[in-house]
Amino acid sequence: MQKLTIKRPDDWHLHLRDGEMLKAVLPHTAQDFGRAIIMPNLVPPVTTTKMAEAYQARIMAAVPQGMDFTPLMVLYLTEDTDPADVRAGFESGLITAVKLYPAGATTNSASGVRTMENVMPVLEVMAEIGMPLCVHGEVTDSDIDIFDREAVFIDRVLDPLGVRLPNLRVVFEHITTKQAVDYVSQASRALAATITTHHLMINRNAYLAGGIKPHYYCLPVAKRESHRKALVAAATSGDPRFFLGTDSAPHTEPNKLQACGCAGIFTAPNTMGCLAQLFEEAQALDKLEGFTSLHGPAFYKLPVNDAEMTLVRSDDPVRYPETIETADGPVMVFDPLCPIHWKPVTGA
Ligand code: NCD
Ligand code: ZN
Repeated sequence: MQKLTIKRPDDWHLHLRDGEMLKAVLPHTAQDFGRAIIMPNLVPPVTTTKMAEAYQARIMAAVPQGMDFTPLMVLYLTEDTDPADVRAGFESGLITAVKLYPAGATTNSASGVRTMENVMPVLEVMAEIGMPLCVHGEVTDSDIDIFDREAVFIDRVLDPLGVRLPNLRVVFEHITTKQAVDYVSQASRALAATITTHHLMINRNAYLAGGIKPHYYCLPVAKRESHRKALVAAATSGDPRFFLGTDSAPHTEPNKLQACGCAGIFTAPNTMGCLAQLFEEAQALDKLEGFTSLHGPAFYKLPVNDAEMTLVRSDDPVRYPETIETADGPVMVFDPLCPIHWKPVTGA
């Protein structure tokens, strides 16, 4: 039996939803992760400090007894966001970051940003106070092929933003391409990237080959194998600019399985097992702790968790649940399409 002990991980991009779904999915994150950056794309979105405070209270009420979990609250940036509210939220410690969704980029992003110029006053304040901006890095123009939307975003939005506000701390979230890996690796400003579990494990064949497979459909869409390899190289490199953001995004089966199904993959229950398997196969188990537990806190200027997690490798594959039940309907858990031999044995 092989064991690996690391500092308790954090998830730097997570969808917890609300209501019954929140109650059902939160324990799966809280058992393995100390903190998570909570995505604000609720309906309606979490656009003000006051709304974030109320959402934080609903999350805390859903944390099971005996589990230690801290939600890091994020404001959803709109063209009406008040810079003073952002400043006050950050300075009070309630708000950790602001999230930029280009309008129409993904699930519940209709209130997102159409024209960057209109949010410059907010971004200027953030650059001044050192508040991180989390970015969904895809352009949404219908004339740009969906497989190119991330790379075009770098040229059209991310790079000009860095020139305009070089002090703004930016997290390029859930990157999926070699272009994004290269851009972040070479950046001289405070730019980091999160990588999801699923983008490290699947390529576009998972949802397109042998039939359409909605459970592998997420945004940004997984790209071809050469891009996945670039992501694995970045995640296992030890470069502190790359860290875990699972983008675990639960949707019920009825919402996934329809002619126009929702984007999102639910990875919270088996993420740490999947990552240990992947890092072992990349002969980089010694880099897992940096990716899941050290690099994120360093970028966000937060302490590393005191607690530890031990992962155990068994010869027989571990059986993770295939679905979880929620009051809104069943949610499928990510199937990594390969045996997983690793499992966390200590959580909170
Ligand atoms: C996310 C969701 O379902 O909220 N879906 C996804 O495919 N990742 C939204 C997002 O982060 O893009
Ligand atoms: Zn997301």
